[in-house]
Amino acid sequence: LWRFIPLFGLMALLTGCGDETISALKPRGPVAEDQLFLMKLSFGIMLLVVVVVFVIYLYVLVRFRKKKGDKDIIPKQVEGSHTLEIIWTVIPIILLLILAVPTVQYTFKVLEDHRENEDALHVKVTAHAFWWQFEYPTLGIATAQDLVIPTNKKIAFELTASDVKHSFWVPSLGGKMDTNPGSTNVYYLEASDVDVFKGKCAELCGASHALMDFKVVSMEQADFDQWVAKMKAPAAVPAEAKRGEELFKNNCLACHAVNAQGLGAGPNLNGFASRELVAGILPHSDESLKKWISDPQSVKPGNKMPAFSENAPNPMTPLKDQEIDDIIKYLNSLK
Ligand code: CUA
Repeated sequence: LWRFIPLFGLMALLTGCGDETISALKPRGPVAEDQLFLMKLSFGIMLLVVVVVFVIYLYVLVRFRKKKGDKDIIPKQVEGSHTLEIIWTVIPIILLLILAVPTVQYTFKVLEDHRENEDALHVKVTAHAFWWQFEYPTLGIATAQDLVIPTNKKIAFELTASDVKHSFWVPSLGGKMDTNPGSTNVYYLEASDVDVFKGKCAELCGASHALMDFKVVSMEQADFDQWVAKMKAPAAVPAEAKRGEELFKNNCLACHAVNAQGLGAGPNLNGFASRELVAGILPHSDESLKKWISDPQSVKPGNKMPAFSENAPNPMTPLKDQEIDDIIKYLNSLK
């Protein structure tokens, strides 16, 4: 057993134990709380079965062992026992019912169609290899990578994908749901606390599946309303970012919208300066941006963005270091 202790430690590390913003065991909303209850319930039932079976097993081992003086004889043969058969059929049925009733109940609750519900905030999620697009149809805005939501409000997610099957998962807020091209899955989640949660793609979708992360930024309703207003107001470009804006228009605008509702082949970058992440996985900094714009394949292999540095292999437009710095200045002005 002792040999396995380091293995358990490694498992705990790999499962991301301890990070409260991505743990299904530390629920931060009502859906996640319900699901944790189901996990505890099923774990409790399994533990009960294991304990009972092991106790009976050990008892039989000791009670019916070959004792000194026993002759090597075959023990008494029993063929069929109605009482025993009824007991070991009925007990599992009861246990399964205890597990099934709340599970089915919760499943239908989460899948409840909130598309017609005026109280819920609607967010259309489109998964792309390897990034996330979030549209708020009732608010007239779109964003990417950072999903901003108000706290204590049902968020009705309409999940779909543009290319292959992905899966939308925010462990702190509730279980995952597949995003399938050509159809829409609907379910809802809710955050109780103001925080930033981690989200992940949970369906193997290509070379950078493991890097297909996003953030969920939850804020009070008033702050959320402010964020929406900011997203709708056209960004004023400061003088020092004008050169970058020009370069952006010539090189990036074909794929990246910078207005409230625009959608394109790449993430909408409206309000980019206040996002938590660069490309969904790098911390937000000039250094990360430089790395990403210069040679995106070195960060997220297999993604569709071409390289833009004269030093990168096969750049679409070989830009100089200074020009990339100008683009970064412009991106940082998109508040
Ligand atoms: Cu998208 Cu895995």
